Amino acid sequence: MNERIPLVDLRAQYESIRPAIDAAMERVIERAGFIMGPEVRAFEETFAAECGVAHCVGVSSGTAALTLALRALGVGAGHEVITVAHTFIATAEAICAVGARPVFVDIDPHHYTLDPAQLSAAITPATRAVIPVHLYGQPADMEQIGEIAAAYGLAVIEDAAQAHAATWRQRKVGGLGHMACFSFYPGKNLGAFGDAGAITTNDPALAEQVRLLRNHGRRDKYLHEQVGYGERLDTLQAAILAAKLPHLPAWTAARRRLAARYSRLLAGCGVTLPAVASGVEPAWHLYVIRTPRRDALLAHLQQYGVEAGVHYPIPLHLQPAFAQLGLRAGALPVTEAVAATCLSLPLYPEMSDAQQDRVVGLVRQFHTASAQAVHTPGAEPARV
Ligand SMILES: Cc1ncc(COP(=O)(O)O)c(C=O)c1O
Repeated sequence: MNERIPLVDLRAQYESIRPAIDAAMERVIERAGFIMGPEVRAFEETFAAECGVAHCVGVSSGTAALTLALRALGVGAGHEVITVAHTFIATAEAICAVGARPVFVDIDPHHYTLDPAQLSAAITPATRAVIPVHLYGQPADMEQIGEIAAAYGLAVIEDAAQAHAATWRQRKVGGLGHMACFSFYPGKNLGAFGDAGAITTNDPALAEQVRLLRNHGRRDKYLHEQVGYGERLDTLQAAILAAKLPHLPAWTAARRRLAARYSRLLAGCGVTLPAVASGVEPAWHLYVIRTPRRDALLAHLQQYGVEAGVHYPIPLHLQPAFAQLGLRAGALPVTEAVAATCLSLPLYPEMSDAQQDRVVGLVRQFHTASAQAVHTPGAEPARV
């Protein structure tokens, strides 16, 4: 009997802190105050402190965070925003949502984040902002990106949806650009019990603008200063997130320990292991290996109940949704190579060493069987 090993185990996390979560939800329900209120403010303050920034504005999702950040910066029709195609679609959807055009550049082949060397060539007079994505929890090269952006007067918006508590040169993500956008989608490193997100910034004017935009452009109930959005952070979600936030350091440490353990145990087994950039402490939202036999390895793991995943199999520039950009296969070679070969192994703070050993054993078994198939003349292909 093969024990199922999920990609992430939300149930285990809930069980580990159930009384605190239940009490937090009960307080909101008892008060019957479901929109804004003290829980939202309290969470914003503690999350800002956690990120080491002056302001945090809770919103309804990571997608809303990106959209409102762009709106607050004045990005709109006729503008271009540079980002990567190796990310979740929300990064580029937000650019389209404000009427601007996404311009995709390739990623660094080692860290899978925006390649600063590609940035200058993509800048035009219409460019207003760049959105580096801290993909899989690894911060992008914020020094080079920041320098180029400053030289051209561009805003930098961190897509930190996967990188809560990651550090770059001992600074937490969330304060490394003009604004940062977080997702608290349930499976994220800090996850709500539904959709939720936040924007962080050190700029009080941008924070104020986002506060207005998320709540129908109003400060007073029936006075709307701007046309905004209904994208507030739910009070219940804020209460849940506030109950979880004190555990984030321990959860991040557990992810780091498991990631280091994966790298130690998988060394020399024929797959490309994740590389960590110097001065960076990733949050290890995902532990992503690469192999040319990705689909066969994925099927092998699934056959034994291990839920590995692919993030992301089709780059955004090759998605039907972005066909109007006119980019074809070959346009972003590193992005396309990574999309074809990447595989996310299960990783979550509650994962036991025994569970991890099983995943490692299956990867090693696959590799050994593949090697035997290659090295034994006339042998049947290994059934892995
Ligand atoms: C890199 C990235 N950006 C943006 C988002 C959007 O966040 P949400 O799902 O909360 O809208 C996600 C999450 O799914 C993501 O992984």
